[in-house]
Amino acid sequence: MQQLITGPAQEHSQQANFEERDPDLLARITERSARIGVVGLGYVGLPLATEWARAGFRVTGIDIDALRVDMCLKSKSWIADVPSEDLGALVREGFLTATTDASVFRELDIITICVPTPLNEAKQPDMRAILSVVDAIAGSLHAGQLIILESTTYPGTTDEFILPRLQQSGLKVGKEYFLGYSPERIDPGNTRYGLRNTPKVIAGTTSSCAQLMKALYETVVDRVIPVSSTRAAELVKLFENTFRAVNIGLVNELAMMANLLNVDVWEVISAAGTKPYGFTTFYPGPGIGGHCIPIDPHYLAWKLHTLNYTSRLIEAACEINEQMPRYVVERISRVFWDAGKCLDASRVLVLGVAYKRDVADLRESPAKEIIELFCEKKAVVDYVDPYIPVITLKTGMLAAVALDEDRVRRADCVLILTDHSVFDYASIARTASLVIDTRNATVGLAEPHIVRL
Ligand SMILES: NC(=O)c1ccc[n+]([C@@H]2O[C@H](COP(=O)([O-])OP(=O)(O)OC[C@H]3O[C@@H](n4cnc5c(N)ncnc54)[C@H](O)[C@@H]3O)[C@@H](O)[C@H]2O)c1
Repeated sequence: MQQLITGPAQEHSQQANFEERDPDLLARITERSARIGVVGLGYVGLPLATEWARAGFRVTGIDIDALRVDMCLKSKSWIADVPSEDLGALVREGFLTATTDASVFRELDIITICVPTPLNEAKQPDMRAILSVVDAIAGSLHAGQLIILESTTYPGTTDEFILPRLQQSGLKVGKEYFLGYSPERIDPGNTRYGLRNTPKVIAGTTSSCAQLMKALYETVVDRVIPVSSTRAAELVKLFENTFRAVNIGLVNELAMMANLLNVDVWEVISAAGTKPYGFTTFYPGPGIGGHCIPIDPHYLAWKLHTLNYTSRLIEAACEINEQMPRYVVERISRVFWDAGKCLDASRVLVLGVAYKRDVADLRESPAKEIIELFCEKKAVVDYVDPYIPVITLKTGMLAAVALDEDRVRRADCVLILTDHSVFDYASIARTASLVIDTRNATVGLAEPHIVRL
């Protein structure tokens, strides 16, 4: 009788026949003699490059940013999760180097692509970085190379966008060269889950591609999760981040509804979170930021539009999340109005502009839009953020100010946008005349002039 296999055995469903895979490349991976290139030395690429270098591979980072390349060669890290000492040791021992010169592609056995995938003005995928890297790789593609995309992107990118370009080399995928997709799950600043203990989803264009990828990632990751196609792996990543975006959209809407109902949303979330099953806690905030949650659902929605399908949940969640900065400013206007004041010429002191706690990352942070909205209303805004010394607004540059008691006392409103752990919320609440807290950073404090989102 035929046995139905379920569970972990499915993870091996992509195992190639021995003859199909490249025995040389597999051996070079096992022996750590394969030369690896990591294109894009950012939040994703630099940690990956250093992990492979630490595992004993010779790794070359390739980036168009000459400053980053120079910093790498001088052993100076620009990513908090990669200490300069670790980077320096790998550079000195010859395991890690960096260059801006794409001609190095021809010397490499494995190339992973970790370049940005932003949105354009029309909120559609901006594929220019991937395109330029893939065209450069295609120009020197040779037998025995394994190319892996790690950037977050729409389902179909590897097989519709990258494969045809590499096929122009005349080489046969799965036999002469290898291609696959593996989404990155790195969470900058997360000290509990890093590259090694976060399971890594992989998929190859063919089973031989998948097998080489599995061998490669198993050198730096405890658990590798193969899925059956690159399209599925691309959708896994977008589903994970869309799941967060939709749930954050729901809880942001809950915050607005609770305010209308005169109920404390934080109390509701905290009590709901005690349910031991069937509930996952998400928190409202002034909007969503970072390079993933505000962007990735649009990649999925865009792809679905090309198939004449509109995702109602994604569009509703994005709309709610994107309107949160305006909601925060309107809420504060109402609080001022109730107190007989107006925003015009008022002094607003913003605490935290990074998109999340304790990181030096401003990408897509709602703080910029909120500050611009205050400026439009003629409020005088200062901000404090130990991680972000200066921000660029539509009206020009704004530099961070120091957090001192006098400044807190003089502000008409202290607005907590990012709950960095270095802030002393109790002393700020004691000194300020009005605190608007969008993050529940003042939980447990009872001052009557604290207004929570
Ligand atoms: N940051 C995260 O937390 C995270 C997590 C998972 C997935 N991702 C995805 O990973 C990808 C990279 O994100 P990131 O956060 O590392 O971006 P990043 O902006 O931190 O780094 C990207 C790097 O790529 C370089 N670059 C840009 N164009 C290039 C080109 N044509 N050739 C060579 N280098 C080029 C940039 O100079 C930069 O150093 C994106 O698709 C992102 O969505 C990011």
